[in-house]
Amino acid sequence: MFQINSDIKKAETIPSEFYTDEKYFELSKKQIFSKTWQFVALKPQINNVKPIDLLPNFLDEPILISKNEKGKINCLSNVCTHRGKILVECEKNIEGIRCGYHGRRFSLDGKFLSMPEFEGVEKFPTEKDNLCQIPNETWNDFIFSSIKPSYPLLNFISEMEKTTNSFDFENLRLISTKDYEVNAHWALYCENYLEGFHIPFVHKSLNEILDFGNYTTETFQLSSLQTGYNGNNEIEAHYFFIFPNMMFNYYPWGLSLNVVKPVKKDLTVISYYTFVNDETKLDTGAGADLETVEMEDQAVVESVQKGINSSFYNKGRYSPNREQGTHHFHRLLTKFLFQD
Ligand code: FES
Ligand SMILES: [Fe+2]
Repeated sequence: MFQINSDIKKAETIPSEFYTDEKYFELSKKQIFSKTWQFVALKPQINNVKPIDLLPNFLDEPILISKNEKGKINCLSNVCTHRGKILVECEKNIEGIRCGYHGRRFSLDGKFLSMPEFEGVEKFPTEKDNLCQIPNETWNDFIFSSIKPSYPLLNFISEMEKTTNSFDFENLRLISTKDYEVNAHWALYCENYLEGFHIPFVHKSLNEILDFGNYTTETFQLSSLQTGYNGNNEIEAHYFFIFPNMMFNYYPWGLSLNVVKPVKKDLTVISYYTFVNDETKLDTGAGADLETVEMEDQAVVESVQKGINSSFYNKGRYSPNREQGTHHFHRLLTKFLFQD
């Protein structure tokens, strides 16, 4: 069990076993990722029924998202309650859900409807024959789901909601999605994101835009915010981190959402979703050339991945002015890992 001192001036970072021992990688599935919220789809993408994996190749939790006639969105287990076949394998416009194995039917709300050749089966059907409802919540057009949430979505996003209340979500359009593979533990990628300390050392071009002296970090219950200003004291970017793995980066042109998806303890996929609401401002300021910044971050994170395997390294200390976000993240990691 790890403990991170609440006083950043006294604290030491999380020990390297957290990143190198398979046990903690496995524990994080149950203790962190099953209890927090994941972005699963955008509302306009749901026409009728769509299969989705909650962090594919990691949580292996097949779910489906359906929209019924009244427009109500449901997240349901995508596993047939008879013998376990995956129900919906591709996006479909259907009235109800019918299993392709032995024909069990469900409504779009997951209710058991019928099953051939089951006459005479005792105490059937029961609640257990319905599809399990998976908690889901919607914020703007973003649909989030969680297997067993420790807190409502609002506890994670309320500060982001307040800060972005004048942001134009109405005209936000998804223009591209892109995946990057990083040979590093998912948490190493997150903690690099959580401090601007490295900007002058790692990001030469970004450093010319952002005023390092004026960069701020605020931490909240389950999120944190870094704000970057330019030399004229104008806000260039709001970088919101929603624990444990979502980054909402607000720029004058729109939003870059980056989701950190663990695959193996030393392999992570970063999914970039780029949304634009003002094309005239694309390619300007801190939100220009994100690809270069991403490559610079990946190189440094992959280097840390090699370093934490060293028998001469176990943990370090924090800068009280520059690493509050990383300290806060480590505190949340340990809290979730070892809570009931
Ligand atoms: S597994 Fe679905 S009907 Fe048999
Ligand atoms: Fe960076």
